[in-house]
Amino acid sequence: MAFIKARLTVNSDLLRVLFSECFVLSYRHAYHAGNHADLLKHLILVRCLRYLRRKEKPLCYVDTHAAAGGYSLLADEPQKRCEYQSGIEKIWQQDDLPESVADYRNLVAEYNPQNSLSRYPGSPWLAAKILSKQDTLWLHELHANEAENLKTTFNHDRRIKVVEGDGYQGAVALMPPPQRRGLILIDPSYEIKSDYQQVVETLQKLHSRFATGVFALWYPVVERQRIDRLEKALRCSGIQRINLYELSIKPDHSDYGMTGSGMIIINPPWGLQQEMPQALPYLARQLGEADSGHYRIETLVGE
Ligand SMILES: C[S@@+](CC[C@H](N)C(=O)[O-])C[C@H]1O[C@@H](n2cnc3c(N)ncnc32)[C@H](O)[C@@H]1O
Repeated sequence: MAFIKARLTVNSDLLRVLFSECFVLSYRHAYHAGNHADLLKHLILVRCLRYLRRKEKPLCYVDTHAAAGGYSLLADEPQKRCEYQSGIEKIWQQDDLPESVADYRNLVAEYNPQNSLSRYPGSPWLAAKILSKQDTLWLHELHANEAENLKTTFNHDRRIKVVEGDGYQGAVALMPPPQRRGLILIDPSYEIKSDYQQVVETLQKLHSRFATGVFALWYPVVERQRIDRLEKALRCSGIQRINLYELSIKPDHSDYGMTGSGMIIINPPWGLQQEMPQALPYLARQLGEADSGHYRIETLVGE
């Protein structure tokens, strides 16, 4: 019986990877680089890593879905829909940014040495920039070209390991990290609908092996019911200390595509809860279309 169950598990994992390989061939993060969803995700990632870095001890960073690591906004893909105009461009030259948002914007500025916005960093670049030389970064990417880009970009950085393969399985296999301190970013594109279930299952596995880790899960607001179900699944997961931060630039509507996005943080570092009440209302005002920007800050599960 156990043998049959094991075979079924292996086969369903294999099927999911094969299935997702077919889909991810069509997804390129370059089309979306710097949009409002990247802004929220990277702001929160940067602030979590800053808080974790305040202690001297070594850290482990795991990116389950790393993509290319950085993008030229002048390339054909970002220029197709110019999504960065709904995100980073709206705060790029603001001089009244809340401190946390200024910290994120200044890092993006470092990625643009010419002082004009022509490049946008991905999560791997931001993490590599903040973490120190004693830290380790594991970057997973299923798409061969994107994995190759990561290898080229971070070739000389000995802290960084690029893994071409499934990030869900890769992250679980790394837990608990030897450093016993770390952040795991789970950032799928959700083009495969099973991702909504997969992220919860993966978080449960990760958390059962590394209960003190900081876990950051990004999600898009495309269909509100899917997010309601995701929240419910996490509330029932048995995991504690779960906060949610969401930013939308227009009202929920299933015909508009992605109207907003959110980050769910398990074991949020001290300080994030203090600074998001300044950052998110500011961003809702600055990025919202026709005054319809809005945000949520919620505790999904307390202590
Ligand atoms: C939303 S993008 C990641 C963006 C990146 N984290 C950032 O913030 O800069 C999602 C990436 O996941 C990759 N991908 C999809 N399924 C995957 C899987 N099971 N394991 C690893 N990577 C996967 C896609 O090829 C795509 O590059």
